[in-house]
Amino acid sequence: MSTVRLDRFVCKSTELTKEEATQRIHQGMISVNGEAVTNEALQVHENNKVTLAGDTLTARAFRYILMHKEAGTICSNKDEAYPSLFNQITVDRVSELHIAGRLDVDTTGMVLITDDGRWSFNITTPSKKCEKVYRVGLRRPIADDAAAKFSHGISLQGEDKLTLPAVLEVLGPKEVLLTITEGKFHQVKRMFSAIGNRVVSLHREKIGTVVLDVDVGQWRYLTAEEVESF
Ligand code: URA
Repeated sequence: MSTVRLDRFVCKSTELTKEEATQRIHQGMISVNGEAVTNEALQVHENNKVTLAGDTLTARAFRYILMHKEAGTICSNKDEAYPSLFNQITVDRVSELHIAGRLDVDTTGMVLITDDGRWSFNITTPSKKCEKVYRVGLRRPIADDAAAKFSHGISLQGEDKLTLPAVLEVLGPKEVLLTITEGKFHQVKRMFSAIGNRVVSLHREKIGTVVLDVDVGQWRYLTAEEVESF
């Protein structure tokens, strides 16, 4: 760990939610190097002594990884009909890692991997409105009314609620970018199927503000700034 925001440090070293951690900080219950601090955005370093009501806090060292998934690998922790993408991640305790928003076996692109469940919740839960951008190849030319339909929300088979508003950007007759903030099972494929088209290629190129920037099959750790952005 280099530096991290105080609220995040408190979350990483306790079972408190971000709201609870912020509340404790505002109540003056947190001290950094012996001084009460009420600014949750203060950057703290691993050498700082942080206490909560007098007890010293020690942050767990969570891991945050960005990977470029290749087609033919699965987002499961073990091999099944296809090999797990975790085979390509050469870190200790791989079994403790999970994926924040799985991709289908034939989908390529960005996956975020972590052992911090609270952080991945911010990415996957629709109420946090974290945007995922997919580049989609289609079998048929995109219909003129597709953007309006996706913006309004559409009904997917087997779901009671409409999809949340999604943004469609047309790149060519059969190539589009689709931005969604939820991740129902096979969501993108089902959305295009619901408007009478079919996905022939699917690639996730962005999550939140983080853009895929490693080659296929490669991975890297997220920067502290990227981690904080979720
Ligand atoms: N939507 C899909 O249909 N598949 C994916 O892999 C991701 C989003």
